[in-house]
Amino acid sequence: MAAIESVMHEGRVFEPAASIVETAAVSGMPAYHALVAEAERDYEGFWGRLARTALDWQTPFTKVLDESRAPFYTWFEDGRLNASYNCLDRHVENGLGEKAALIFEADDGTVTRVSYRDLLARVSRLANALKARGVKTGDRVVIYMPMSVEGVVAMQACARIGATHSVVFGGFSSKSLNERIVDAGAVAVITADEQMRGGRALPLKSIVDEALAAGGTETVTSVIVYRRTGGDVHWDAARDLWLHELVATQSDVCAPEWVGAEHPLFILYTSGSTGKPKGVQHSTGGYLLWAQQTMQWTFDIKSEDVFWCTADIGWITGHTYICYGPTAAGATQVIFEGVPTYPDAGRFWKMIEQHRVTVFYTAPTAIRSLIKAADANPEVHPRRYDLSSLRVIGTVGEPINPAAWMWYHDEVGGGRCPIVDTFWQTETGGHVISPLPGATPLVPGSCTLPLPGILAAVVDETGQEVPNGQGGILVIKRPWPAMLRTVWRDPERFRKSYFPEELGGTLYLAGDGAVRDATTGNFTIMGRIDDVLNISGHRMGTMEIESALVSHPLVAEAAVVGRPDDTTGEAIVAFVVLKRTRPTGDEGRAIANELRAWVAKQIGPIAKPRDLRFGDNLPKTRSGKIMRRLLRGLAKGETAPQDTSTLENPAILEQLGEAL
Ligand code: WTA
Repeated sequence: MAAIESVMHEGRVFEPAASIVETAAVSGMPAYHALVAEAERDYEGFWGRLARTALDWQTPFTKVLDESRAPFYTWFEDGRLNASYNCLDRHVENGLGEKAALIFEADDGTVTRVSYRDLLARVSRLANALKARGVKTGDRVVIYMPMSVEGVVAMQACARIGATHSVVFGGFSSKSLNERIVDAGAVAVITADEQMRGGRALPLKSIVDEALAAGGTETVTSVIVYRRTGGDVHWDAARDLWLHELVATQSDVCAPEWVGAEHPLFILYTSGSTGKPKGVQHSTGGYLLWAQQTMQWTFDIKSEDVFWCTADIGWITGHTYICYGPTAAGATQVIFEGVPTYPDAGRFWKMIEQHRVTVFYTAPTAIRSLIKAADANPEVHPRRYDLSSLRVIGTVGEPINPAAWMWYHDEVGGGRCPIVDTFWQTETGGHVISPLPGATPLVPGSCTLPLPGILAAVVDETGQEVPNGQGGILVIKRPWPAMLRTVWRDPERFRKSYFPEELGGTLYLAGDGAVRDATTGNFTIMGRIDDVLNISGHRMGTMEIESALVSHPLVAEAAVVGRPDDTTGEAIVAFVVLKRTRPTGDEGRAIANELRAWVAKQIGPIAKPRDLRFGDNLPKTRSGKIMRRLLRGLAKGETAPQDTSTLENPAILEQLGEAL
């Protein structure tokens, strides 16, 4: 909250430099306002124009938006296209075949360049191989891959044949992977033997083996394995295939499968407020349109740019701003296998210098940890590197505090690069609130204004818009092409989670709180208003972690909350009641470690609680409801007297306040 307060009193404003405004796709605020006005005047006309300009359609659409089955909106429905064609073939056809599509830098620094022509050939070979394995349009393919050229190839190959991919982040456990394979009903899994991160090899294939042994996965008939490290793997000849052997015999020509605009391009699982992750389903046409349009608007991407998004393909940012956006825009991009701190915390700056990166996109958590590292060791300070190639820099995933913003602006951007603080979500498909680098006056810590065509607003609990300056619930008032279409196999959950009756049933509920500046109308995001935590920009549901904890034989009850953390944004704090007496001291620490390891096994290391506290009970109301407000206070180490009048067992607070 302190950070939000400081943003609301932030007086500094940074106008874009004339040199940036001059050449920008959206040049100056009047150009931004003209686009906003165009969308207001003729919403469908606006989106139709963009979709016809940005994408190549095999069959043009005749209708832009169909609201008759709201909130199950459809866009460009009778149009047909192929995502991979739009990302690859059309650039090769337009003479860009030799242009670098990907500059891949491995963990150990090895660099591989892949041209658009090469990428198309590799995608086509794998697409043919998938077809040869019986994978058809509409089938689901789970991708559990490291950051690699092959990861992008796998996603694009699915898109090419109309198979719906579901990428699972390589840090998720076998249990999480199993649940996603089962829910998606996948027919194939594409993985690697191992992945390299920070000089260490970490298993992937063996986790797939475990996930498939756990059952419910009979639909899977092929496991395709990219050989990354050559490490030992268990082999099941009935099902496992080496990717390099499989593609060796395939043609590098594969006709794209034309699909309807609403065809599900992918499902991506994300955390919600229940224990079960939601399969967010995206379309082909509307999604791809926005992936490309936001590359142009938000990043002002130009043909000579070198773009670098540091996300992993396992998250939405890696889908939209690695696999689809930059390629649809025909850009050159860097993709990176490793971590920002290996071999030292100057890695990002060194890579920007070496590859002459012009547009750089990363997460506030990474910035905050690199600030710490640079303070501790001048050798890895960005000032030690030549970052003069940078033109636009961006952030995503969580609020950026003004102090980190200023450092990013001055030390990385050299005071001359606009920062695009992009607010969006897995569900929104692409940016929804963000500055435009050649137009928007920047205010540190604010994601500023909605992109043209996005009708964002702040409302109260009844769905009424609140005046600027007053906090409330962030919503989007009209459907937009890149929005999620449904929750995979759970349309009711889609409707209830995103279009709740309490708000009138027509507003898209983002799940974040927000406030607009009284004079500029700029948005500041105040964090999630549901039971979703944001750890280093990664979404985790408190219920997911609680159910993992209570599945441990020792645990009777658990409650999980977040506490603010200077580096990771939020840290996970778990309050646990065991089935036995409350452990303390060394024993308490040993059990806490066991439970942490258990959560990592159940969900993945990112879900490990930072703090674990044991109590004989949890603070509850007389009706038995856990009082999370009190737990959040305890997690922060607050000792100030809180209102405990409705609390059944006030004595418990003292126990739970004790760190181990
Ligand atoms: C948070 C990531 C403040 C927010 C693309 C949202 C942000 C959640 C920002 C979505 C930002 C994302 N400022 N908060 N610029 N960007 N968030 O689905 O809470 O992994 O609801 O998508 O991240 O996380 P997700």
